[in-house]
Amino acid sequence: MGTLTSNEINKDKNLIFLVGFMGCGKTTLGKKVAQKTGYSFIDLDELITQQIGTTITQYFETFGEAAFRQIEKETLHSLKDENHAIIATGGGTPCHFENMEWMNQHGKTIYIKLSPKALLSRLSQTEIETRPLLIGKSNEELLEFITPKLEERKPFYSQAKIVFDALQSTPKDLIKQIIL
Ligand code: S3P
Repeated sequence: MGTLTSNEINKDKNLIFLVGFMGCGKTTLGKKVAQKTGYSFIDLDELITQQIGTTITQYFETFGEAAFRQIEKETLHSLKDENHAIIATGGGTPCHFENMEWMNQHGKTIYIKLSPKALLSRLSQTEIETRPLLIGKSNEELLEFITPKLEERKPFYSQAKIVFDALQSTPKDLIKQIIL
């Protein structure tokens, strides 16, 4: 028997990584789809919050973004032995270290795609106030931040195995992609 590639090793684990910008609906969609498919739902930000024992905003303020990205990577890697799980990642997760490559090797990656304007309209006040990169910005400033940031991140998001157009598609379409 030949050596198994990491894709083959992980084939039966069925890990689904949802990637995309803040506000694209990874958590909402992930929870819905998990409920319908019987997969478990894991929110990476929530796991990190448990790990650090404080909010992500507070952690950013105290230790800086680089320290957060390190914990984010370690927390992501800790999920490799999960089974049948839908994982909502943070908006920046795919864009640091080799995280996108790692996710592609360990499961199915799905990019939840939305335009900057659609992202802005979907971001709730609570989301804005709990995201260190968005906090304190006016609507105009948010759009000025999201537009180039999304461009910068697109090369990473686009490495996802599946692109899910969140304006044109429904959670049912996402379920089809997952159980294919
Ligand atoms: C971040 C997105 C957040 C969270 C952190 C940084 C980013 O997650 O990980 O605030 O860099 O885009 P969500 O995409 O779940 O909001």
